[in-house]
Amino acid sequence: MLNMYVFATALGLASAAAVAAAAVAPTYPPLAVLKAFRLVVQVTERSTSNDFASIHNTYISNIRTGHQGHDLLGQTENADKALTFYLNGTTTAQEYMRVLTESTTSVSSGIRLDPDEGSRTVRTAYLIEGAADVGFSLKHPSENYAFLHPETWAACKEKLPLDKDREVIVFKQAITTTSHMFGTVDQNIPKGCVSVRLLPECANLNDLPKFSSYLPEQITPSHQHVLGSHCYKDVKAIDWSKYGPGP
Ligand SMILES: *[C@@H]1O[C@H](CO)[C@@H](O)[C@H](O)[C@H]1NC(C)=O
Repeated sequence: MLNMYVFATALGLASAAAVAAAAVAPTYPPLAVLKAFRLVVQVTERSTSNDFASIHNTYISNIRTGHQGHDLLGQTENADKALTFYLNGTTTAQEYMRVLTESTTSVSSGIRLDPDEGSRTVRTAYLIEGAADVGFSLKHPSENYAFLHPETWAACKEKLPLDKDREVIVFKQAITTTSHMFGTVDQNIPKGCVSVRLLPECANLNDLPKFSSYLPEQITPSHQHVLGSHCYKDVKAIDWSKYGPGP
């Protein structure tokens, strides 16, 4: 199902780009390829999302849940608290790539998407020690922009499971569904959430943490399989009105 979704998204963007290209010569913000990146939140539903305006241009960070090595993805205005991620894998095919970080513990953690209870389309993003999902990428060859796939990302206000008084912003990924019978497309963004895009901003790869010698070899952090990441030098500084056409 994931592969089909990714394919459909790529196809949609490619054909939209082809139509646009016939009208105006497009330009796009310059991309670099580095070994690490931070993720910058871009709220894509501006008019309906006053509640979420303050998270625009903030960075992805982690929220402790009380379970060691099992954090939620959150956001922070403070660049120093942003997580430094990298793509890990032996090939740049999306189905084999992970998004990892050593920013939180001495074991590599990576993004994992766990289905929300009772939902077939919405998954909450966690940062899990030693058990990241594969299936992520930053730029498809047919696209001119870099952003975290799979889309669509949503920022949602939620109460923490162990601290019901604390409302935080967490991130979810929603699978777009189409109804052939009604000819409708549904992004499946949950109620109370806003759709966002997560853009990679170039960063320096962290040094490997000083880990204790008792760590089993298979969880000892390594940068042996770090792949190049397309990234923007400074996402906040991009004047999007100068670029396009396109989202
Ligand atoms: C990084 O990628 C390599 C090659 O695919 C894999 O063997 C390794 O387990 C990955 N690291 C983590 C922490 O998932």
